[in-house]
Amino acid sequence: MHLVTAKVQLSPNVTRLDLEASRIAEIRQPGQFVIVRLGNGAERIPLTIADADPARGTIALVIQAVGKSTRDLVALEVGDSILDISGPLGHPTEMISSGRAICVGGGVGTAVVHPIAHGLHQRGVEVISIIGGRSREWVIFEEELRRLGQVIVCTDDGSYGRQGFVTDATREVLEAGGVDIVYAVGPVPMMRAVANLTRPFGVRTIVSLNPVMVDGTGMCGGCRVDIGGQTKFACVDGPEFDGHLVDFDLLAERLGTYREFEQQASAACEAGSCRVGLARPDPSSPAKP
Ligand SMILES: Cc1cc2nc3c(=O)[nH]c(=O)nc-3n(C[C@H](O)[C@H](O)[C@H](O)COP(=O)(O)OP(=O)(O)OC[C@H]3O[C@@H](n4cnc5c(N)ncnc54)[C@H](O)[C@@H]3O)c2cc1C
Ligand code: FES
Repeated sequence: MHLVTAKVQLSPNVTRLDLEASRIAEIRQPGQFVIVRLGNGAERIPLTIADADPARGTIALVIQAVGKSTRDLVALEVGDSILDISGPLGHPTEMISSGRAICVGGGVGTAVVHPIAHGLHQRGVEVISIIGGRSREWVIFEEELRRLGQVIVCTDDGSYGRQGFVTDATREVLEAGGVDIVYAVGPVPMMRAVANLTRPFGVRTIVSLNPVMVDGTGMCGGCRVDIGGQTKFACVDGPEFDGHLVDFDLLAERLGTYREFEQQASAACEAGSCRVGLARPDPSSPAKP
């Protein structure tokens, strides 16, 4: 059982939950994720460890409510609990130890980019974060990223920062020169666009892939992706890969595999069946991290 210790609404559909998970908080590294199961009968879903506080024994998950499982999770309140959290899973981010990096985050991907930017900053790398949202209220983690370096905010409607896509700002920084590596996390079309943009500049580009995962241990094959013509499992070989080698068409196609079932689950959720098997701590036995 993992107790929810804090809850913050970051944007209209993105929520941060801090949860007790002391062993994960101690050993997690940037780029790693957990697989969460809210309660008995609930789906197992992967979520990036957006932050951790080893002293308090907590990890932060930043969740975009897109379907049944994520809506169930963001409905939790402080004092509720999650049944299982497995992790940390996946390879830590490949970090450079000097030079200049661009960290590009779109939507909830900005929360995933944050631990990467933090790790780079700790190593002495100059970090330029380029983050986007459709309008001001959708921009997240700006303050946290400003503590680590320059931040360029882009909004689709120009209501905050500069108007336009994160790729426009990324192009300008690349043209100014001196960029050693680019990290991009967000929707598949965004990561594909960033990889296409950096290719002619010859700048190494790491993307964090989000295929459907089930076990997270390399056993089921659900998270299969194609990297440079080779099959890889994102849960054990990734989730970060060289963006110039990713078959984004296959990734997008496979993400739609269960759309019909997801829509049915979402519809049932809207009809009132969310929060299956919610794990509530027994007041007589305090939740263990
Ligand atoms: C390594 C990794 C890290 C991730 N980190 C985050 C994060 O930090 N924050 C966040 O909000 N989201 C993250 N995701 C995506 C998140 O796991 C999905 O949004 C979630 O599983 C959707 O479940 P649902 O039932 O709410 O939505 P559904 O309606 O079931 O699905 C909505 C869409 O989410 C994707 N999806 C569905 N089930 C899964 C699954 N088991 N595994 C992966 N994707 C799935 C599919 O593209 C689907 O079309 C991550 C995904 C991966 C692979
Ligand atoms: S989630 Fe099963 S192999 Fe990766």
